[in-house]
Amino acid sequence: MQNQIRNFVIISHIDHGKSTLADRFLELTKTVDPKEMHSQFLDNMSIERERGITIRMQPVRMEYIDQNAISYILNLIDTPGHADFSYEVSRSLAAVEGALLLVDATRGIQAQTMSNLEMARKQNLFIIPVINKIDLPGARIEEVSKEISDVLHVNPENIFKISAKYGTGCEDVLHSICNLIPGPKINNEKPLKALIFDSIYDSYKGVIAYVRIIDGQIKEGDDIYLKAADIRVKVKEVGFFKPEFSPSSVLKSGEIGYIATGIKDLTKVRAGDTITLFSDKDIIIPFPGYQRPKPVVFASLFCQKISDYDILRNALLKLKLNDASLTFEPDSKPILGRGFKCGFLGQLHMEIVVERLRRDSNLDLIISFPSIVYKIIDSQNKEGLISSAQDWPNPNKIKETLEQYIRLKIIIPRDYLGKVMESLKNRDVKYINTEYLGSQKVILIYELPLRKIMFGFHQNLKNITHGYGSISYNIIGWRKSNLTKLEILIAGVPREELSTIVCEEDAYKESKNIVEKIKENFPQQLFEVPIQARVNGKIIARETVKARRKDVIAPLYGGDYTRKRKLLEKQKRGKKKLKEKTRLTIPPKVFFNIFKSDKF
Ligand code: GTP
Repeated sequence: MQNQIRNFVIISHIDHGKSTLADRFLELTKTVDPKEMHSQFLDNMSIERERGITIRMQPVRMEYIDQNAISYILNLIDTPGHADFSYEVSRSLAAVEGALLLVDATRGIQAQTMSNLEMARKQNLFIIPVINKIDLPGARIEEVSKEISDVLHVNPENIFKISAKYGTGCEDVLHSICNLIPGPKINNEKPLKALIFDSIYDSYKGVIAYVRIIDGQIKEGDDIYLKAADIRVKVKEVGFFKPEFSPSSVLKSGEIGYIATGIKDLTKVRAGDTITLFSDKDIIIPFPGYQRPKPVVFASLFCQKISDYDILRNALLKLKLNDASLTFEPDSKPILGRGFKCGFLGQLHMEIVVERLRRDSNLDLIISFPSIVYKIIDSQNKEGLISSAQDWPNPNKIKETLEQYIRLKIIIPRDYLGKVMESLKNRDVKYINTEYLGSQKVILIYELPLRKIMFGFHQNLKNITHGYGSISYNIIGWRKSNLTKLEILIAGVPREELSTIVCEEDAYKESKNIVEKIKENFPQQLFEVPIQARVNGKIIARETVKARRKDVIAPLYGGDYTRKRKLLEKQKRGKKKLKEKTRLTIPPKVFFNIFKSDKF
């Protein structure tokens, strides 16, 4: 049986106008009181607003009566737009039947939009193409229509052209959601089967699971079972997103809503888990599962104050509940003390997590140099994975090193083809193919080590293409690589937190880059600080942070030479002593600026 529920997402690249279009839907459906309406209503976290990106999905249920007086329930799940968060997109896609493909008329299709679109097609979602920002003078409506029709094989006339900012065409899109996206299959009589696609922690209600009810119904007091977590609980409350939590007596098949579980253990409720009634737990086959988040960047976090360890632990546990892709385990280092080794989906994800920890818990954090996973085969042919230079084994015991390779798609306007290809030449990347998108854009396909794009690659591509280039990638497997550990010494002392893993061929260039970056960001001391890079016991790069000088002889106006010399020598001895005594603290901005820098 079909019904009047429509569950959908908006697939779009960062800044293409998803939140603005969602605002128009909230107004058109009168979901939010016009007095309370402010822009980007669903995009409500402060860091997200500052950076203009959505991290967490904010689902909303809207009620709409169309021109034929048919009433619909529209469930919109807001999906994140940035490459680092594509896992979250995959979770929301599994809970809906349709997707709006929203493309900025001045920018056209971006690489990440393409990969999200591929995911949506795999889920058999109905896709409605929409071109946004047609009010802008730089809108290239015809050209972008051609790009979309190339990708989706639709007639350009069937693509909506709207301005989410001014509301032009938005109601037509709403009608097409009602008319074109299929309703969910309803099976209220079957045993309960619900999918968790997200969750948050509430200090009164415990973990609140965001769910799509596939079969059956659920209500307060039901005795439920979470399959993967293997826990049984009584439902505290069920309800809908309006967009605030709005309790309801029941959630039925086909609907999207929340279940307050009362569970206090933050790590138990995982996105992708299946909920059943406890009595049916053995007859329900769990949903085949979402893609598990795979961290690709690792870094260890430590507190400046050792006593803050428990605060950091709790803050990470809390974040993890709302961000299943964050992983962490205890770590400890001789100088830095106890901390956590964390896994992130990418560099941007890491920056946001660190910023949230700093802000929400007021923590003074030290971050180790980020790393990705490498495989090492030892002399006894045993395989091991390492994700930190600190764990690098004795070189004599290494037989072979491997790293993950990716297939990278770069979408750029044709005008930049030469420049981009030139900058990728001689960079240990393998050119695979060029495809054409519309009449103005090309898709370049390369194979290269994942390592090469982790730090600064995207930024550099954006610089070359004046912001018009975009990338997406998928991991294709392990390949042999000539890896080694690059150590950094500050004032002659090896600093493990700055050491990193590099390919031998790149060691010299990367060492130079890193020591220069450290020098630029390292605060001056009363003495000279050498910054050195060492590979296999050999120093291969050096920079020096000049001493901050205090003019000790200034008060000796016209004084005699021996007195001046004595004072200068005393100063020199003092500095030497100070240098021996001081263990230099590396400010966090040094780390951030190094990994922001371009190593491509
Ligand atoms: P993320 O949440 O980061 O994925 O971005 P988003 O896709 O939600 O974009 P958002 O709605 O935040 O819009 C980005 C910018 O584009 C904002 O400054 C909007 O005001 C602007 N914008 C959105 N739609 C339109 C439009 O139709 N016309 C014009 N001129 N500007 C628009």
